[in-house]
Amino acid sequence: MTSFAVFASGYGSNLERFIEETRAQDDLARLALVVSDRLTCRAVTLARQAHIPVFAFDPRAYPDKAAFEREILRKLRVHKVRWIALAGYMRLIGPTLLKPYRDRILNVHPSLLPVFPGKDAVGQALRAGARMTGVTIHYVDEGMDTGLTIAQARVPIDTGDTLESLSERIHAVEHRLYPAVALNLIREDGCLAPGQACLPRT
Ligand code: GRF
Repeated sequence: MTSFAVFASGYGSNLERFIEETRAQDDLARLALVVSDRLTCRAVTLARQAHIPVFAFDPRAYPDKAAFEREILRKLRVHKVRWIALAGYMRLIGPTLLKPYRDRILNVHPSLLPVFPGKDAVGQALRAGARMTGVTIHYVDEGMDTGLTIAQARVPIDTGDTLESLSERIHAVEHRLYPAVALNLIREDGCLAPGQACLPRT
């Protein structure tokens, strides 16, 4: 069994999918901890309802990022966490966590990276007049959405799409792609090369 943590800052719909997918007692992936930089948000509530240990903290209570990441690292070690899945965690990961978890931190981003990195990727695609966007699952490195891509799925942009309508379709794809790709790696504890990660059937 391999333990993983989900980091989330907000709504937590991707977290919700991880909770659903790993509910079975005998699953090889165990969601051992949810980390949030918000004391209260839907993601924290979801985790508590599912009886998953939560570390929710206020970043302002620490002198700097290294200090709260040291605290996160302590919690990760207590819960024997080997993999981290970022799911709407609105902070760059610093060296305190990157060093011990290099190549074992995953992220989902709502665009076809390297296009439209950073915040408001859906709005960026709409404002650029793009006809196609999508979802990227990638490893996390020091940069903003710059790590190695593991999987991508395309989402066409319709004429008349709004931020809400496009976000909704992108989320639906994330919910299918992210747990499938991430849990494949986690259950095998990374034994599969990124190119071999199985994609879900459409
Ligand atoms: C997702 O769109 C993801 O791509 C981005 O943050 C959003 C999180 O959504 N990184 P949710 O909190 O999982 O609903």
